[in-house]
Amino acid sequence: MTASDRRRSAPEHPWRGIHLDVYERHMGDPRVGQLQRLRDITGEQLAAYPFRAIGVLGVAGGNGLDLIDPETTDAVYGYDINPDYLDACETRYRDTLGARLQLIETSIDRSVRIERVDLLIANLIIEYVGAEEFVAFSAANARSIGVLSCVIQRNDAAGFVSSTDYSSSFDALASVSSDIDPETLTSAMSDAGFADLGRCEYPLPNGKTLVRQDFRTTPRP
Ligand SMILES: C[S@@+](CC[C@H](N)C(=O)[O-])C[C@H]1O[C@@H](n2cnc3c(N)ncnc32)[C@H](O)[C@@H]1O
Repeated sequence: MTASDRRRSAPEHPWRGIHLDVYERHMGDPRVGQLQRLRDITGEQLAAYPFRAIGVLGVAGGNGLDLIDPETTDAVYGYDINPDYLDACETRYRDTLGARLQLIETSIDRSVRIERVDLLIANLIIEYVGAEEFVAFSAANARSIGVLSCVIQRNDAAGFVSSTDYSSSFDALASVSSDIDPETLTSAMSDAGFADLGRCEYPLPNGKTLVRQDFRTTPRP
């Protein structure tokens, strides 16, 4: 079987089947409250690490990219598996970010090599890449990452997908999603050469908690 045969026969990744409008309506629903909260957290990440080269894994429709100051930023790399989401980023942010904005369609895994960035933001994507694969990706790209700031969701008593009028559109994600344990992630990142810079927790209206964890690469001996 050739590579193109394999691509044709491979099942479509479930994130490619979710319309951005449905995703943003779901995440913006007052019962979920995640779109605004993630935008605020992105603002905090940018303020904590005011660097000139920024990468965003799982950039979706560019939530929070409006908070990037083009005057103090040289490059913004947005990575996502869904090309329609990247088209939306293009429409929304090309005018303000100009040639700084580079949008890359890719499925994040350990084989992917990213451009060198001072700050890499990875908010609510590790659940879909998988902790082990994400740590392997980070290790493989350690020389290209200054600070890695990520957000995972702790579901506590709530289900993985919050209940809204759009919840059923996310059913297919069950096949690619997993819960991430913050302590296990910290320990695995440490083994991969990333020092823990600290953690913040953000409770959500639906009983879930967003957990932000920041890491810095440590020089290898
Ligand atoms: C929950 S959304 C991210 C939310 C966004 N970061 C924010 O702050 O609002 C997850 C995003 O990750 C993307 N994604 C999921 N798995 C991926 C993978 N393996 N590689 C690249 N992008 C992926 C999805 O297409 C989607 O845009």
